Amino acid sequence: MFLVVPTPQAVADLVSTLVYQHIKAKPAAVLGLATGGTMEPIYAALVAKLQQQPLPLEKLTTFNLDEYVGLSAAHPQSYHYFMQQHLFAPLGLAPSQVHLPDGNCRNSAEECQAYSEQIAAAGGLDLQLLGIGSNGHIGFNEPGTPFDCNTHEIELTAQTRQDNLRFFADAAEVPTHAITMGICEIMAAREVILVATGQRKADIIAQLYASGVDEQLPASVLKQHRNLKVIIDEDAAALL
Ligand code: GLP
Repeated sequence: MFLVVPTPQAVADLVSTLVYQHIKAKPAAVLGLATGGTMEPIYAALVAKLQQQPLPLEKLTTFNLDEYVGLSAAHPQSYHYFMQQHLFAPLGLAPSQVHLPDGNCRNSAEECQAYSEQIAAAGGLDLQLLGIGSNGHIGFNEPGTPFDCNTHEIELTAQTRQDNLRFFADAAEVPTHAITMGICEIMAAREVILVATGQRKADIIAQLYASGVDEQLPASVLKQHRNLKVIIDEDAAALL
């Protein structure tokens, strides 16, 4: 279940290869996608592979894990913007193929319900990519989030806002809330790949390795998943 490779680039090569092979085997795949610094080299490697050896992508559908509440798709720190920049535009994916929760929606309960229904209508997720927060969150399911949740709005913890401050001009700009896919939708994915790189993830990876399934460590729920790979670099594995 835990695969350790030497560097973040080796992680990117392996994970992008797995995603590439998945799309090759199933052109109409439904991919669950993540954002964050960990994903940047993975998406760059996937784009490079698809440029070298193109695959038909017209039937692909994607659903992202989460979006900040209050940021429009055009905001440079929104996850819409991140995905457009790192994956959707380079691959030429059409707006109708890609989905993220609308952080600027007027009614978040309705938006969450609609997002869940769209995932279900697509047949659920074939492959979900996940990063991990330094407090063990997946998507934005913060510690203590019930495991039986579908897409919902959540208040971000002080630690998560601090971790993500590096992407914003100052602390006041970091959103306080987000819409995230729930643990139910993540666990229903037919395959899950959790990725972590760098020293700053070593502590949470060691906790995840040692932990039982516990709502205080959201990623620990993945230990009950039938088809999980945790792919990490040596720095993230330093405390194992
Ligand atoms: C963010 C995202 C997560 C991501 C995590 C790690 O808050 N909501 O989906 O996995 O934090 O981010 P990074 O890869 O930048 O460490």
